Amino acid sequence: MIALGSDHGGYALKEEIKKYLTEKGIPFIDFGTDSEESCDYPEFAEKVCRSVLAGESEKGILCCGTGIGMSMAANKIRGIRCALCSDGYSAEMTRRHNDANVLSLGGRVVGPGLALEIVEIFLRTPFEGGRHARRVSKVMALEQS
Ligand code: RB5
Repeated sequence: MIALGSDHGGYALKEEIKKYLTEKGIPFIDFGTDSEESCDYPEFAEKVCRSVLAGESEKGILCCGTGIGMSMAANKIRGIRCALCSDGYSAEMTRRHNDANVLSLGGRVVGPGLALEIVEIFLRTPFEGGRHARRVSKVMALEQS
């Protein structure tokens, strides 16, 4: 299960991602928003992240205008490792090395073709573990500081 959320700036991209996931037969939950009417991205970041942390969703995907506000909000939530990606290499490496559990995309930054490539890479790439697990543990320990 993939949790999806956007604000108005990422709404169109979220809809593209829904079409892509539907075509691929990948189940998702859409936590909104449901239109291009102005709204506040932290509310949707929180819903998606809570779904991931509850184990209801394996990963989350957030879209706003730049992807920045969504990633900032998501990374405030303990247990979330959200990566803002605008290229496929970063999407691959953040899964392999950072075990990112949420992807953030900027609907006003990346076009739908590139965004779907990033989504595809993010969803299919496993975490490498090993020395990266130690480093991720150290990242997560910073939440306690
Ligand atoms: C909304 O205008 C915009 O600020 C939002 O989508 C996002 O880019 C924030 O980081």
